[in-house]
Amino acid sequence: MSQRIAHSKITKKFRSNNKQLLFSKGKGGEVEAVDGATYLDFVMGYGPVILGHATPEFTERFSRYLSNGVMMPGYSRFHEEYLDRLLAPRPGARGAFFKTASEAITGALRIAAMETGRLGVIRSGYIGWHDSQVANSLKWHEPLHSPFRQKLRYVDGMRGVTGDEAVHNWVDLRLESLAEIIDTHRDRLGCFVFDAYLASFTTPAVLAQALAMCHEAGLLTVFDETKTGGRISPLGYAHDLGLETDLIVIGKALANGAPISVLIGRPELLIHAERARLSGTFSKEMLAAYAALAARDILEQPIGDSPDGWAELGRIGTRVAETFSQAAKSAGVAGSVWAQPVLGGGMFELVYSDDVLGDKTRRENLLAAFAANGILLLEGHPSFVCLAHGQTDWADLEDRATRALRLWSTDGEADDE
Ligand SMILES: Cc1ncc(COP(=O)(O)O)c(C=O)c1O
Repeated sequence: MSQRIAHSKITKKFRSNNKQLLFSKGKGGEVEAVDGATYLDFVMGYGPVILGHATPEFTERFSRYLSNGVMMPGYSRFHEEYLDRLLAPRPGARGAFFKTASEAITGALRIAAMETGRLGVIRSGYIGWHDSQVANSLKWHEPLHSPFRQKLRYVDGMRGVTGDEAVHNWVDLRLESLAEIIDTHRDRLGCFVFDAYLASFTTPAVLAQALAMCHEAGLLTVFDETKTGGRISPLGYAHDLGLETDLIVIGKALANGAPISVLIGRPELLIHAERARLSGTFSKEMLAAYAALAARDILEQPIGDSPDGWAELGRIGTRVAETFSQAAKSAGVAGSVWAQPVLGGGMFELVYSDDVLGDKTRRENLLAAFAANGILLLEGHPSFVCLAHGQTDWADLEDRATRALRLWSTDGEADDE
């Protein structure tokens, strides 16, 4: 097969026998590669797949909507209905539609600049790939004490990221460091953006204080719930904990893989959307709105003892993490690697002892060992679950994970780079 696709690094991670995997289809919690090999998928497209691949109920609901067409001259009643349902717990809030979260964050930054007259930004976490979001960024998903966390990346070819437009990294999540950034650059700062995944690295009290400090200094605050919103709960971490943030961005998990992202805020902020020109041709397309409605129809229903799909996802992810940790015990590597649920279990992550944490090759070998045993997951990044993982054959998962971890612990064979 030809190799015409230009990749960023993250889509090249999944390999078998030294060859990059190319996928042909998905079913529930599994995916199939072009060579016919199947894998338990805990990548979930990096978060968007929330129900499962091609699950019959989703496909059926989604198909029913399709007869209304794909794009109208303007927004449709399906967009309006979706926001009514999504924003019911935030009376008065408005939403702007985008395809990707990078776009929505760009929208948030522009609103902040218009509102405050200042272009400078404080950033914590991965907040997208546009220049101002990714330039001079760090390895944000690495634990605070990881030797790789502080490595400055994406320093070439970026525009609009110096002088008054500089983006400052809040790296260690200490309030003293935040105060220092605010004090040093106060006159130029208009916006604070926080990736809600990093809430798992700190406490709600610290975050409430950070938001208060930013408000006090006149910054607009943005909680970036791209990984968390629609996954750990319908609206994500800041809403659930009652944190006072001006804007919320949600994305990824809203539409079971279809591209949709929403910027949420008070009407007096979202009013800037017109002057700020916050939309593009595809902002109003309807496929993603259909998929988002279909996903919501399903997630709102109780499943077993769980009151809704979001609660069930938390249980599933917690069980997946326990199964990986149990496998680590069975393979005799529980001192080196284990898994833990993140923010309630809709996501989970691998955790390493310090010697493994600092050893990039061993960490990459671990993914290869899992892939060789039919499991795809992420490392140095949370992994994701879907409702279809509720039907996992848990003994089989533990078996495969144990074999993978044994293979990894004997080293060498797993290294397919
Ligand atoms: C917290 C956060 N913000 C923004 C983004 C960018 O989203 P997208 O890739 O949809 O532009 C991501 C993507 O991983 C993310 O995790």
